[in-house]
Amino acid sequence: MTEAILLVGGRGTRLRPLTVRTPKPMVRAAGVPFLTHQLARAKAAGVEHIVLATSYLAEVFEPYFGDGAALGLHIEYVTEEEPLGTGGALRNVASRLHSGPEEPVLVFNGDILTGLDIRALVRTHTETGADVSLHLTRVNDPRAYGLVPTDGTGRVLAFLEKPQTPEEIVTDQINAGAYVFRRSVLDTIPAGRPVSVERETFPGLLANGAHLQGMVDSAYWLDLGTPAAFVRGSADLVLGRAPSPAVPGRCGDRLVLPTATVAAGAELSGGTVVGEGAFVADGARIVGSAILPGAVIEPGAVVTDSLVGTRARVGTRSVLTDTVVGDGAVVGADNELRSGARVWCDVRIPAGSVRFSSDT
Ligand code: GDD
Ligand code: MG
Repeated sequence: MTEAILLVGGRGTRLRPLTVRTPKPMVRAAGVPFLTHQLARAKAAGVEHIVLATSYLAEVFEPYFGDGAALGLHIEYVTEEEPLGTGGALRNVASRLHSGPEEPVLVFNGDILTGLDIRALVRTHTETGADVSLHLTRVNDPRAYGLVPTDGTGRVLAFLEKPQTPEEIVTDQINAGAYVFRRSVLDTIPAGRPVSVERETFPGLLANGAHLQGMVDSAYWLDLGTPAAFVRGSADLVLGRAPSPAVPGRCGDRLVLPTATVAAGAELSGGTVVGEGAFVADGARIVGSAILPGAVIEPGAVVTDSLVGTRARVGTRSVLTDTVVGDGAVVGADNELRSGARVWCDVRIPAGSVRFSSDT
C-alpha cells in the first residue's frame, strides 16, 4: 500500500464564503491547514504517494505543501477545469497512479477528521478480496450522508446517498468517506464527464455483483462540513480526542503557537488554539475556540466554541458563542454574538451594537 487520492474539490465548501479566503482544507485546525492532518495520518499508515484531486483554487495547495517532502510524501496536484464530481475526479487522476491493476488504492474525502485505523481498512480489503472497501461509521441522524447497510459479514447490500424518505433510512451506518479501491475499478469509471461515486459508481458496482465490503468501527469521526463542526474538530485535535501526528505541540487543554502572546490573566481551555502572532489580553476567557494567526482578543472578552479569523479583532468585554469572525473583521467592544453568527471578512461592528441578552 503506497498510494492515496485525496478529494478536495467540488462546490460544497460551506465555509468558503465566510471567514476565510482560502478554501476549507487550508483553514487552520489546531494550528496547521486542516489538510495537513489527513496527509500526516496517511503518511503514518505507510502511504508514500498522494494525488490531490481538486477543482477550485488549486493554487493555494501547491505553494504550501509543494512536492510533499516536508511531510515525507510525494504529492501531486490535478485540477479539474469543471468539477467532475467525486467519481469523475477519481477517474481524472487515475493515470497518475503507479499501482498495478490488482493493487489497493486509498481514497479520502478531504473534509473528514477521523481516527480511522487506515491499515485495518486495507487489511479488511485484502483479506476479503473486495473490489472496494468502505469505512463506515454510525451516526444518530444519517440523512445528510450515504447510507450503507451490510450483511452479517460486512458485505455491502446497498448504497443510498442522502435518503429522501423515511423508508430509505434502513440503517444508521454511513459512508465515512474513506475507501480502498482495487485500482482496476477506478479505471472503469467513465472519463470526461461528471460522475458521483456515491450516486452512480457504488450503486452500479453493486448492481453488477461487485464485492463492496464495509468496515464499521467506533473511531473518532467528524464531517467538517459546517463552521461549528470545524471549530469542534480543531478543539478535538488540540485535546487529543482526534488523533493526528500533525498537531504542532503537545495535546492538552490549549495550544499556543510560537510567537502568539497570551497575557498571564487570560484563561484558555477546552482545546483552544491560539495561532502565530495572535494576542490574547488579560481577563479574556477562551473556551474550545480557534484563534487564527494575528487575531487580537481584547481584555475581558469571552469567546466560546468560535473561530476568530486571521488578523480579526474581538473587542473588550464582547461575548462570542458559536460564532465565526471573518479574516480582518473587527467586533467592537461590548457586543454579544451567538448561535451561528458569521461576521464577514473585513466588516467592522461598532462598539455596543449587537446583543441577545436583556438590556438590564
Ligand atoms: N476533485 C473533486 N471534484 N472533489 C470533489 C468534487 C469534485 O467535483 N465534489 C466533491 N468533492 C470532494 C469534496 O471536496 C469532499 O472532500 C468530498 O469530495 C465529498 O464531497 P462533499 O460535497 O463534501 O460530499 P458530502 O459531504 O455531501 O457527502 C460525502 O461525504 C459523506 C461523509 O461526510 C459522501 O461521500 C457521503 O456518502 C458521505 O457519507
Ligand atoms: Mg462533505
